[in-house]
Amino acid sequence: MIASLTEEAEAIGWYEQRIAVEKDKSARAIMRNAQKEEFKHFGMDLEFLLRQTPQWRAILQDILFKPGDIVEHGEEAEEES
Ligand SMILES: [Fe+2]
Repeated sequence: MIASLTEEAEAIGWYEQRIAVEKDKSARAIMRNAQKEEFKHFGMDLEFLLRQTPQWRAILQDILFKPGDIVEHGEEAEEES
């Protein structure tokens, strides 16, 4: 599942690169739609992994979906783990 997570992240990045250089509006819209699917897959893979690994979940709960300084949250999460 970790390999799958990596592949989903790569796909998101590949779409981002292609969208950045695509001149055709319809082609960009199709790729944006496909990229959203990859975000969904990435999220499902990540959630699966976090359910298997409570320590990873605890660390990410201190970082994700919180306002404020991302680096500070990361350092606090590292200290708490
Ligand atoms: Fe995917």
